Amino acid sequence: MKDAAPETIFLKDYAEPHHWVREVHLTFRLAPTETRVLSRITFVPNAQNAGDLVLNGEDLKLITATVDGAIVPMDVSDTHLRIKSADLPTKPFTFEAEVEISPETNTALEGLYMSNGMYCTQCEAEGFRKITYYPDRPDVMATFTVRIESDQPVMLSNGNPTASGEGWAEWHDPWPKPSYLFALVAGDLVNHPDRFTTKSGRDVELNIYVRPGDEDKCAFGMEALKSSMKWDEDTYGREYDLDIFNIVAVDDFNMGAMENKGLNIFNSSCVLASKETSTDANFERIEGIIAHEYFHNWTGNRITCRDWFQLCLKEGLTVYRDQMFSGDMRSHPVKRIEEVLQLRARQFREDNGPLAHPVRPESFVEINNFYTATVYEKGAEIIGMLRRILGDEDYYKGCNLYFDRHDGQAVTIEDWLKAFEDATGRDLSHFQQWYSQAGTPRLKVSEAWEDGTLTLTFTQTTPPTPGQPDKKPQLIPIAVGLIGPNGDEVVPTTILTLSEETQSFTFDGLGARPVASILRDFSAPVILEREIDAATRAFLLANDTDPFQKWEMGRMLAKDTLIDMITRDATPATDYLDAIKAVLTDESLDPAFRALVLGLPSEDDIAQTLFDAGQTPHPQKIHAARQTLRQTLAIHLSDACPTLFRQLETPTFVPDADGSGKRSLRMAVLGLMTLNDGGEAARALYAKADNMTEQLGSLSALLAAGLGAEEIQAFEKQWKNDRLVMDKWYTMQVVHAAPDSTATTVETLTQHPDFTLRNPNRFRAVFGALTANHAGFHHASGAGYETLANHLIKLDKLNPQTTARMCGSFETWRRYDADRQALIRAQLERILATEDLSRDTTEMVNRILGD
Ligand code: BES
Ligand code: ZN
Repeated sequence: MKDAAPETIFLKDYAEPHHWVREVHLTFRLAPTETRVLSRITFVPNAQNAGDLVLNGEDLKLITATVDGAIVPMDVSDTHLRIKSADLPTKPFTFEAEVEISPETNTALEGLYMSNGMYCTQCEAEGFRKITYYPDRPDVMATFTVRIESDQPVMLSNGNPTASGEGWAEWHDPWPKPSYLFALVAGDLVNHPDRFTTKSGRDVELNIYVRPGDEDKCAFGMEALKSSMKWDEDTYGREYDLDIFNIVAVDDFNMGAMENKGLNIFNSSCVLASKETSTDANFERIEGIIAHEYFHNWTGNRITCRDWFQLCLKEGLTVYRDQMFSGDMRSHPVKRIEEVLQLRARQFREDNGPLAHPVRPESFVEINNFYTATVYEKGAEIIGMLRRILGDEDYYKGCNLYFDRHDGQAVTIEDWLKAFEDATGRDLSHFQQWYSQAGTPRLKVSEAWEDGTLTLTFTQTTPPTPGQPDKKPQLIPIAVGLIGPNGDEVVPTTILTLSEETQSFTFDGLGARPVASILRDFSAPVILEREIDAATRAFLLANDTDPFQKWEMGRMLAKDTLIDMITRDATPATDYLDAIKAVLTDESLDPAFRALVLGLPSEDDIAQTLFDAGQTPHPQKIHAARQTLRQTLAIHLSDACPTLFRQLETPTFVPDADGSGKRSLRMAVLGLMTLNDGGEAARALYAKADNMTEQLGSLSALLAAGLGAEEIQAFEKQWKNDRLVMDKWYTMQVVHAAPDSTATTVETLTQHPDFTLRNPNRFRAVFGALTANHAGFHHASGAGYETLANHLIKLDKLNPQTTARMCGSFETWRRYDADRQALIRAQLERILATEDLSRDTTEMVNRILGD
């Protein structure tokens, strides 16, 4: 029997399950197309909410099922197995079942599937129901004992290993957990072992398991893991809690990585690292994601979510924790600027369009569609604001109370905030609105100066978002500092807390009129609308002690220059060119910071800025203006660049903050030089580069200048057997394709024998690059839209989750002119009309169309 059409699930409808689970025993008899899963589950009736036994189950072939050893009446549909309460004992009982599943044909990469002959699982959010019948919801926590029977040499599951023999292995996880944290891996793997002793003296075995041949790419990840374990002890007082911690790398994976208890599973692109094959950016990402998944052990696993609406409880908090870790490992200012760039590019963009939703959504059709920039990145910003409002001491007091009070529980955002209220005696009811109100607040500021008193008046408004036409004022921490006319800081960073729609703050007893530095360190996820004259901006660019604001002033200058070029055919402003030159050659500044100042706003960012200013963005014009500005910069900086290029050389490759900062500035400088020297410097570097950062940096400098045809061929020849490096080869060509030929480049690459829809990394390498090429994707012909839609329709049959995620590229469609809107709408409607379109993609396209 088929269940009715997909329903919408509401937060307000949450109810406890009718049954809790005490213990789970699973036996896997692994076989590619006919794996048998035997389960023995002890259920305990929930006295608070008595009712039928409701188990989820999808794509399962039921062989047998019994209750306390007896056959009972049951109702089995495509999605559930139900047993009426009248047919069940009122005391705890044992449910046993045997089901058959087919990992080899599972291309959705959810549940138990195969990747290069290895068995692996992905259960978050609702994948466990594709493994066996179970109450697949995070508030049901149980201990798991797992037996694996297989001829694969390595067999892993959660917890500690308990016994093994020829063709079998058993694991036991003593920590109660929800089913989404279950994991199993079996394959021909080699491991990179190490050990860690926790602060209380527990000796933990650490392993990174990879395919034979990848064992020399594990050392960096292992160091990152040990640093993360130490950091969580030192910073949050959180220790690891099992005898073993395993990481496994898999090639076919929808996401970056997954925090399964004691058995983290990683997309190989997010753990394998070597200087020959990985860029500095790859190293930085690997360090951050290993930390992220490790930190989930406390924020997500020991304390988990009551329901999926609380996703930000674990993701927002864990992103915040990994950001702090990366800042401690590298540079806080550089990390903060990178975070803001990403927040604006992804989350502000989402908040501005049809997919806008609160950090804690109120309803969903497919939960996989809510692993969004808003839940993750705005969720992390909320934690940052909480810490700014409370101060460090009270922040950690609240965290400690949360950990003590809720260990072993599945909880809500209310529980999280209550721990802070109880620990500090503060009222956080207004603050809580950040979780329920969508949209990015606009903050206007005006300044008045009188008799040594500076008054800052702020006004906040939040534009309407889908389903939320009327917005209330938010509680916004605004970090402000004041700089005197001579460049000295006269008032250090102070947090002003805005709670009303309009509110004034005064600073008195000032001698001469200072310049205000507002929203230091990007203290809240808002759009600051400040009328600021060129002289003040230049003053702050030169004198602000807050690195974020210093960078921000340069960015505003770059944006204004580009907008003037686009809308008034202006030539690039010389004050911008001079300011950039001053920063670029200021040796007192960190090279990584200088590289960030040199970077121009993306074309997508410029499009959004024009749209916000009431204009229709023209992708070709934006592209041309940005190219012209790069060319002008190249000429203006032509004296400084070759010197810097020589000075910044790093004799040995160390992927740390210092080395990567130097290389990022050096590669940025090379990009400009290549616009002037016919590619001489870049070709020379390409020929001798012994690390991927320089190899890819020189190749992309060439491609961006319309050169590099030979190098791109040589690159393929050199790396054709390395899947991860070949992903870069695909991306490079699409990202740097000229707008007129972007769609054909994509089509040609999809004909390449190594292109496949089955590997999400490969799909993203090509199509993520297509949508990152703004002028190519939004080409007036509509070819970019059509190519993407064609392949999304094909991919949906195999992998709905990745398809739905990629549909997000269309979320900005209302920004553009009527012709482009019509072209995009036609593609979205074509996708929607596809027979048997997945629930994931259907929901996304419907929300994007919004009608
Ligand atoms: N729990 C997620 C992975 C996940 C997300 C699994 C959605 C299934 C569905 C994991 O902790 C995570 O957040 N991973 C991020 C990377 C992280 C550094 C933000 C990812 O995979 O992109
Ligand atoms: Zn996470």
